[in-house]
Amino acid sequence: MELVTTKAQLRKARNAVDSTSKVGLVPTMGGLHDGHLALIDTARSRCSQVIATIFVNPLQFGPNEDFESYPRVLERDSELLKKKGVDLLFAPSVHEMYPNGRDDHTVIALPHLTNVLCGTSRPGHFDGVATVVSKLFHLVQPHVSYFGEKDWQQVTLIRAMVCDLDFPIDIEVVPTFRNNRGLALSSRNSYLDQEQAAKAPLLYSALVRVRDLVLRGENNYSQLEADAIQSLADAGFTPEYISVREGRSLRVANSQSSDRRVFGAARLGETRLIDNLAIDP
Ligand code: PAF
Repeated sequence: MELVTTKAQLRKARNAVDSTSKVGLVPTMGGLHDGHLALIDTARSRCSQVIATIFVNPLQFGPNEDFESYPRVLERDSELLKKKGVDLLFAPSVHEMYPNGRDDHTVIALPHLTNVLCGTSRPGHFDGVATVVSKLFHLVQPHVSYFGEKDWQQVTLIRAMVCDLDFPIDIEVVPTFRNNRGLALSSRNSYLDQEQAAKAPLLYSALVRVRDLVLRGENNYSQLEADAIQSLADAGFTPEYISVREGRSLRVANSQSSDRRVFGAARLGETRLIDNLAIDP
């Protein structure tokens, strides 16, 4: 595996790739776990060249968020990627990505998808994601890029961006990787202490309960959401939202919707957890 840290090195390595190769991109912020490795495995099985990126993107963190404490373990991560057969790893510095600073940087904004769910409590977050992902798409020029289902809102807006801005890139979603108690893997799980880690799977359990009740025909979604929020609050979480929505549009769902998903976000101590589940097959 080749490790490059500058855009010039990346372009050179990308230009050297055979033009008949299918190039797959797995963008990450590092702190890799089995969920990321599942993205890599999927890319490896479908592409002849796999390019991974590790960049903790300051543009997608709010002023009181965990940009400083986000796990940065490049040596460990690059070993894992090497073992998985990644061809090229791009791990730039903040200065390399935003040489003129972050404040005056051009931003990609997707208003219709960013002012709901996580967008409500994280203003600017998704614009930061869209901006860095579009930069990575321009730099890497992949044929396909892989994202995790856990970040469904993120992948929905990236799909919209790819469509709206005519990126010739396929977006593929890889199923959420869970531990044996159902907790969706996330780099942020490393912030949880032992007691919190034992409690954290209750977010998944709350979503499973909502999904099962919806499938059994319960159609008062507001009540289901309120009950789930209460059960999480009783267990010691600070719930942000539980919401039954249409998967494609992210609009509030009703019993006529055909692609319903249930979304949840809650804090456990300082750690913000998110998850979502498909309701309709
Ligand atoms: O999902 C993530 O890790 C990040 O949001 C991404 C897509 C790598 C952009 O920084």
